[in-house]
Amino acid sequence: MASSIADQRVRACATLLTQVHAITDKEGITPSALHAIKLKLVTLAAKTHLFPPGDFTMPVAQGRSHPLLVEDNDGHGLYLTINLPGKEAAPHDHGIWCVNAGISGRERHVFYRRTDDGATPGSATVMRVGEVVVEPGRGMAMADHDIHSTAVIGKEPSIGLALYGYALARFPAVAWFHPEFSAVRVCSSRRHAAMAA
Ligand SMILES: [Fe+2]
Repeated sequence: MASSIADQRVRACATLLTQVHAITDKEGITPSALHAIKLKLVTLAAKTHLFPPGDFTMPVAQGRSHPLLVEDNDGHGLYLTINLPGKEAAPHDHGIWCVNAGISGRERHVFYRRTDDGATPGSATVMRVGEVVVEPGRGMAMADHDIHSTAVIGKEPSIGLALYGYALARFPAVAWFHPEFSAVRVCSSRRHAAMAA
């Protein structure tokens, strides 16, 4: 009997995570490892038949992340993310690495570098250093403390795959930067509560 799309998707996601661990077991989380992971994720995202829109509820507003494979023992989290047209996120630092790949639609990621010394609480300056549009056939990779902002461009939702070093429910503190005010605000970490549960 032919396996269902959902079964095929589960297998493909498990294969991806096996490939990711083969890469990171050998070289750790390095720029070249993140690049290799990005290429694997772009390849998976290109198998659009595995991610039919009917299998994933659209967000009511803004965006939504559907878990595809969340590893046990504080492992990685793989999600299908849907962001609606106009959704934006200010520059932020997740504290953990992240790789994205586009399935449909387009999302612009702008990357920043922090330029102050961090000595003044609540204060920060950032400098724009690059930009990538995540769309079909293209992805992006960020290291643990890279800073990015996001914006869906065009009239279609941006749908893609997102792989994070930690599951979203176990995320570290996220720092949000407000360049126009030279300000930074740190949201509390989800790791402590999640680990204690
Ligand atoms: Fe982000």
